[in-house]
Amino acid sequence: MVAKKRRMVVTSALPYANGDIHLGHLVEYIQTDFWVRFQKMRGHDCVYVCADDTHGTPIMVRARAKGITPEELIAHSHELHTQDFADFEIHFDNYYSTHSPENRDLCNEIYRAMQQSGAISVQKLPQLYCEHDAMFLPDRFVVGTCPKCNAENQYGDSCDACSQTYPAEELKDARCTLCGRVPVTRDSEHLFFELEPFHDFLKAWIPTRTAPDVANKLLEWFNEPLRAWCISRDAPYFGFEIPDYPGKYFYVWVDAPIGYMASLKKWCADHGESFDAWWQNPEAELYHFIGKDIVRFHCLFWPAMLHTANYKTPSQVFVHGFLTVNGEKMSKSKGTFIKARTYLDHLRPQDLRFYYACKLNGTTDDMDLNLSDFVSRVNSDLVGKITNLASRGAQMLHKSLGGRTGAMDDEGRALYRKALDAAESVAGFYEARDFSKVMVAVRDLADLANQYFDAKAPWALVKSDPEAARSVMTSVLNIFRVLAIYLQPILPAYAAKTAKLFNEAPYVWSDIEKAVENCAIQPYEYLATRVEQAAVDAMVAASKSEEQAPAPPAKAKPAAAFPPVKETIDYDTFAKADLRVAKVLEAECVEGADKLLRLLLDIGESKPRQVFAGIRKAYDPATLVGRQVVMVANLAPRKMRFGVSEGMILAAGNPDGALFVVAPDSGALPGSVVK
Ligand code: MSP
Ligand code: ZN
Repeated sequence: MVAKKRRMVVTSALPYANGDIHLGHLVEYIQTDFWVRFQKMRGHDCVYVCADDTHGTPIMVRARAKGITPEELIAHSHELHTQDFADFEIHFDNYYSTHSPENRDLCNEIYRAMQQSGAISVQKLPQLYCEHDAMFLPDRFVVGTCPKCNAENQYGDSCDACSQTYPAEELKDARCTLCGRVPVTRDSEHLFFELEPFHDFLKAWIPTRTAPDVANKLLEWFNEPLRAWCISRDAPYFGFEIPDYPGKYFYVWVDAPIGYMASLKKWCADHGESFDAWWQNPEAELYHFIGKDIVRFHCLFWPAMLHTANYKTPSQVFVHGFLTVNGEKMSKSKGTFIKARTYLDHLRPQDLRFYYACKLNGTTDDMDLNLSDFVSRVNSDLVGKITNLASRGAQMLHKSLGGRTGAMDDEGRALYRKALDAAESVAGFYEARDFSKVMVAVRDLADLANQYFDAKAPWALVKSDPEAARSVMTSVLNIFRVLAIYLQPILPAYAAKTAKLFNEAPYVWSDIEKAVENCAIQPYEYLATRVEQAAVDAMVAASKSEEQAPAPPAKAKPAAAFPPVKETIDYDTFAKADLRVAKVLEAECVEGADKLLRLLLDIGESKPRQVFAGIRKAYDPATLVGRQVVMVANLAPRKMRFGVSEGMILAAGNPDGALFVVAPDSGALPGSVVK
């Protein structure tokens, strides 16, 4: 069978540079890596490109909070991300950054084409503006009182207390987070990409380029005219300035997908290849792997942008579901929000790749990582069934038969043939991204081989008829070798060790047909070992107690603007506030409110007080327990969605939003009066 050599570009979504890689992300990068490795093994020309998604307000805000430049922040993330990926055996042909000259050029070029096709319109939008700082305020630069539930200290886009979203202008008592002053509403001009001209194009395009469930959902929007998409953001913004439009930047979602092209362009430049021969070549295929949360960007805006700029659109957009852990959304307080690095500190990357392969089936269904199932699958299937073939076969061959294979016996050869016969169906499962079926096929074949091995009882046979025992071991090792080749896209290091065992080079798919008969084998190296539940428990415990974001080296902060001091009050007014030292008895996250912690405070009363404090982004709850803080003890209780807040604790807030809980020196007792 000589299949046609394909040329393919494959991408995974570009992870945001302002966060760590976690096991949810890895669902995507690992499956893309499986698929790309498979295509390469089949002899196709396949290039896997990706990059960090470096632009946007959150990155700017984080860099400010750390007192470093956005460039420093993204350089640090790039290092962490590439190390995480490498350690999980995820191999990119190029891992780039959206903050690159190639990307800037491509953005400008595509934007010009969008303009020329008449798809760019200008509209004025009301937005909050700080006259003191002379800037329009992004949502994260405004705090105020929620217009829906009156919770204080909420950002300009959504409320943590009631989870409602609203335009920033509706926030009550809005204040600029930079200077504390009250902003005004001003009209700001923005650029829009008109989508309605692409209505018919997209309506025809979508069903041919993505799975039916994904397409049907998207097509629900097509009964009405498609809404235009705002593609500009006001300065300050970390991103690319829009040509001839000073003070305006491309919205991060404009330059992010163009980052796929930029990464490919860089790879082409580094490898003496022509970009057009890869992207524009009608024979070349283009595949995006993405999560279900970003379909709109990849199946509406992106094909329209490419189409209008005369670039080829993706051949397929492969959409996967979200990771749950133990059947629930990943949760920091439960320790199931697990970072790639934390996993690596406790467990082997190969085991996660193996488990994900068992669960991934090419659909948009969510995928569950059940931690006890993880332990038992790795131990029973990878170690007990598959690897057992190699370890028993090779070790016995070395111990009693000089480490040389002979010829397979008839029964063994028949099983070996059966394993070979599965090649095209296994390849079909890979092509369809139904990795779980690959695993079932491999496990079933391993079961048969183990049954054969046990029935032949070579440990006894070796005494009565050593050559017959050699044939059994030879058969088992040959079947194992075929399975290891089938598994190579999923377990590359494992397959490489297998190749070494048989004195071979890394496998290509057609290597299944070479049998290893009458030859010496190398000493057996451990291919896989059992996972201990204790290691999993330790990983969960470590995840519970860690801070969320990467911490780049902090630098001196730039001089910040503080709010002006408020009007004078007399002593009696001040003395009305009853401030007490409080000891934190309990601290925990609040489900559904990502800014809040629920604290239980001892102020020397018979019953501890419950207080909801908006300090979650600054404190891991576990680190607060046992500490002392200062509390306003006579503040009127406030009913919140999660319960009653019986006071407030004092915290200092830097202009950039960083928070610091106020604490007494040691020696103060819970309940003592602060004056
Ligand atoms: N930066 C954008 C993508 C731009 S692509 C031009 C982004 N970044 S992300 O870091 O939030 O997510 C990167 C990819 O990981 C997305 O495809 C996203 O769906 C996927 N996942 C992030 N968390 C996930 C889970 N918990 N489970 C499965 N995949 C998830 O979106
Ligand atoms: Zn201001």
